[in-house]
Amino acid sequence: MAHQQLPSQSAIVGTEEHEQEAIDELIALLPISQCLVHPVHRLYQNFWCPITVLPNVITFQRHFKAKDKDIVLISHPKSGTTWLKALVFSVVNRSHLDISNTPLLTSNPHEVIPFIEHKPWSDLDGLAEPRLLATHIPYLSLPKSIKESNCQIIYICRNTLDTVVSSWHFLVEAAQLMDEQVWSLEEHFETCCQGQILFGPFWEHMLGYWKESLERPSKVLFLKYEDLKEDIGGQLKKLADFVGLPFTKEEEGGGVIEEIAKMCSLKTLKDLEANGSSKLPGTTFEKRSFFRKGEVGDWTNHLTPSMVDRLNSIMQEKITPFGLQFKTR
Ligand code: A3P
Repeated sequence: MAHQQLPSQSAIVGTEEHEQEAIDELIALLPISQCLVHPVHRLYQNFWCPITVLPNVITFQRHFKAKDKDIVLISHPKSGTTWLKALVFSVVNRSHLDISNTPLLTSNPHEVIPFIEHKPWSDLDGLAEPRLLATHIPYLSLPKSIKESNCQIIYICRNTLDTVVSSWHFLVEAAQLMDEQVWSLEEHFETCCQGQILFGPFWEHMLGYWKESLERPSKVLFLKYEDLKEDIGGQLKKLADFVGLPFTKEEEGGGVIEEIAKMCSLKTLKDLEANGSSKLPGTTFEKRSFFRKGEVGDWTNHLTPSMVDRLNSIMQEKITPFGLQFKTR
């Protein structure tokens, strides 16, 4: 498969002008987030979508045609998306891309596997198969063809205590770069508890994919950040089996799994020049901002006991009844 890096374009290619106007009119009518945090969100199909990507989301929903061999990586932001992209790219391309010449050495994982909501989706037609794509869109709002075709979904999820802390650091850093007002962790926490966070509420996001992974395990693989941290080798094997490219005995014996794990580790990726302070094309984020501590339990350094109790009770009410649980340290 060819390296998937896409040309940077600002317009949504393939969108007729009148359709674009209709989309703008539709967006203008949607409820807007009253919370303090940036970026501005609109409530679209019951999830809070940043207005910067909403037109692309709608166009993608209307026009995207999934191919049976597509592999779509999905997550709630700050759940380990960057790591998942590096891992899946390495597993799928390992037969022809050596670690010594992987594009991950020279490009950020988000450039190697595009976010559909950040890129003109019609560019995707020319990509070699299997196409590796990514999105933060909740299950219910995915284009019909993703749900109905034989394409596969890999979802990564993370305990919400750490996700709240991670997203706060990420958004504050982005706001500082743009000289915008920075908000406190308390304000961010409140917004999260109200579900008004990027692509949230996060409980709905997780549950959509969790339920689908139980009903259609060959369609949706549900991974947890904490499991990857605990046993990267085992999780890589699971991932390779899921996409139909299991590691051979020779690969296992030859240390291929360990090589991939090392190449995709936080330390390796964070130290690369490719993941420095230049901006990720099409976004306001610096490439380095996707790599911070990468720890399970960093919330213990930031959240007060009452915050922890509140978030835990929300998650207990919303997701535990469906059998979804997380390790938190
Ligand atoms: P922290 O902010 O807790 O450090 P996303 O990729 O979905 O934006 O999630 C970002 C989080 O994943 C950040 O968590 C980041 O440090 C962590 N992360 C990024 N790359 C990683 C990797 N290769 N291994 C482990 N964690 C990684």
